[in-house]
Amino acid sequence: MAKTKIAVLVSGGGTNLQALIDALNAGVITSGEIALVIANNSKAYALERAAKAGIPSEIVLKKECGSQEAFEQKIKELLTVNGIDMIVLAGFMSILSENFTKDYPERILNVHPSLIPSFCGVGYYGLRVHEEALAYGVKVTGATVHFVNEIPDGGKIILQKAVEIEEGDTPEILQKRVMEQAEWKILPAAVEIVSKQLQR
Ligand code: GAR
Repeated sequence: MAKTKIAVLVSGGGTNLQALIDALNAGVITSGEIALVIANNSKAYALERAAKAGIPSEIVLKKECGSQEAFEQKIKELLTVNGIDMIVLAGFMSILSENFTKDYPERILNVHPSLIPSFCGVGYYGLRVHEEALAYGVKVTGATVHFVNEIPDGGKIILQKAVEIEEGDTPEILQKRVMEQAEWKILPAAVEIVSKQLQR
């Protein structure tokens, strides 16, 4: 059976992309392969991670495209040309509209650094999520991998993992713990589950 062809969309450091590359190399992901990395930021370190792993990459800048619609159209073209079956948002800091998400029902995954439905939705991304969790005073946080639909962080949940908040945590310390204990584990696990389901 052919492997599910995955595109990973990134904006920054790409540690979640790295977790996927490592999981492929370790045989944790066997049903899919990363065929393309797309960045919306030309300085994203994730692009270097892709290059080191021998994965082709493309840069699509919203300001060069001129509009959200043209930006999404360009990404769609790249996905079609590369025969992509499944999309993973791994630290992709741009919300995709319904015009995009409707074309890939239950084929777009996102990793979010909290236990949805806490600390999620518009404006909750990156370090901000951990700042809000600490400010609220929750004792447990975590990460969620979910399908992406037209509601920001609102699609069906695939996997979640809880992480304890510790005395003296800063947003940066908490972010690192959530990545290490949750994101880098549940993202590869969810990618294997969905790529297996989509295998043809
Ligand atoms: C990760 O913590 C990811 O969960 C978060 O951004 C970080 C990206 O790190 N994503 C969001 O907040 C999406 N709403 P990475 O580039 O090292 O993978």
